[in-house]
Amino acid sequence: MEVDCIAERQFWRSRYAFVMAAIGSAVGLGNVWRFPFVCYKNGGGAFLIPYFIALFTTGIPLMILEFSLGHWARGSPPYCFLKANKKFEWIGWFASLAPFVIASYYTVVMAWCFAYMIYSIDLRWGSDANLFFLKHFLNATRSPAEIGSIQIPVLLGLVVVWFSIFVILYKGVSRIGKVVAVTVPLPTILLIILTIRGLTLPGAMEGIDYYLTPDFSKLSHFKVWLSAYAQVFFSLSLAQGILITYASFLRKESDITNNAFIISLADAGTSFLAGFAVFSIVGYLSLMKGIGIENLGLAGPHLTFVTYPTAISLLPFGTWLFGMIFYIALLAFGIDSAFSMIEPLATSINSKWKFSKGKATAIACALGFLSSLIFVTSSGIYWLDIVDHFVANFCLVLIGLLECISLGYLFDLKKLREHANEVSDITIGRWWDFLIKFVAPLSLLTLLVASVVENISVPYNNYPTWCLLVGGVMPGAMIFILSFIFANR
Ligand code: ALA
Repeated sequence: MEVDCIAERQFWRSRYAFVMAAIGSAVGLGNVWRFPFVCYKNGGGAFLIPYFIALFTTGIPLMILEFSLGHWARGSPPYCFLKANKKFEWIGWFASLAPFVIASYYTVVMAWCFAYMIYSIDLRWGSDANLFFLKHFLNATRSPAEIGSIQIPVLLGLVVVWFSIFVILYKGVSRIGKVVAVTVPLPTILLIILTIRGLTLPGAMEGIDYYLTPDFSKLSHFKVWLSAYAQVFFSLSLAQGILITYASFLRKESDITNNAFIISLADAGTSFLAGFAVFSIVGYLSLMKGIGIENLGLAGPHLTFVTYPTAISLLPFGTWLFGMIFYIALLAFGIDSAFSMIEPLATSINSKWKFSKGKATAIACALGFLSSLIFVTSSGIYWLDIVDHFVANFCLVLIGLLECISLGYLFDLKKLREHANEVSDITIGRWWDFLIKFVAPLSLLTLLVASVVENISVPYNNYPTWCLLVGGVMPGAMIFILSFIFANR
């Protein structure tokens, strides 16, 4: 049985440090490249209705659950679940290993941002950003089955990113607090600058219209509601052991519920703002190129590494400056999400096997770096797409569901509610138990079943089945099995 080394436990220096760290974890690349596109595709302004319903009925209640568990049990995620029930340690390991898998490709996207930050100086992507990104930068093969070779510029960026994660984490939470004091406000200010620049360009308003014109008819589509839940879940860093770990570093008399509201609304606000920055410049690009907005790549890597650079090259002045601002903002948004994904595993290793925090962090970072290498090859962009799709859609939702069931039904949930109420500014009532026991698990179960049915009927992105099994099913199955092995050692 695991014994947590509470005596060695460190604490956040202030409430501000904790709130900033949690916002830093929540706000990441997902806010910039995922939310605006998901919003536009699912009814524009009307999407905000399912989004806020998902946020208030599942996102915030789950965040309060994770904070309460971490603060009540005061330990690594495996230890917290073990304290709730002897049979639950594996859930904590599962929740600590899932973000580790996400970090293995998230850091590679950050390595791309790092390279593009430098390329902004001379607008290296030239007149065809798509050709540059896929052929010259990634040297992409035609399918994930053709692995290809390691791409050196990406590898160099990756070394920088993993080294930064190690340096930030190995000293413990006091250093995290200092880092997030910069990496949370800085990109927000940069995003505001980009938004102002975007909104003052011709064509911007057409872009914003595209983003926000409400299409209420979409609200009758089941998929729109699923997208809202998936977005809330991914963006708030739920079900990844992160919030449990961060809350365990809070001092005894620290607020939980009010902090959860502040963090969730800050995350939602940043996503909404990012939509203005992205769609104003996309509107400008559409006007300059005479191409309809719907025909410009608006999601994921294409938005960030093709559409946005193309638009930047067409700016009337300060092209390199706005290019740099954009990629620095992405790096700053991304780094605190990235290191938060490693912290649960590092804390769990430190707690379970009594390695020093530095050694545990080094182990987690070294393993993370090695796992990232597949995404640095010429086929990396495909593997990244596959792993991201499966881990975000299945593992996280499954972990969220396990949390609701294990703590809602096989543990006295009231204990956590009373614990939260004892220390918090805002008290929660029985409605919270109802959300955790019924509303959240039912939504997550529906999400899970619908995703399974959809993925079985249509292979994701038409990738070969063996690639989906290796990239999607295998990592999930591996961390599931490892969770049991670790829990029983
Ligand atoms: N929550 C992080 C993001 O949105 C992972 O990027």
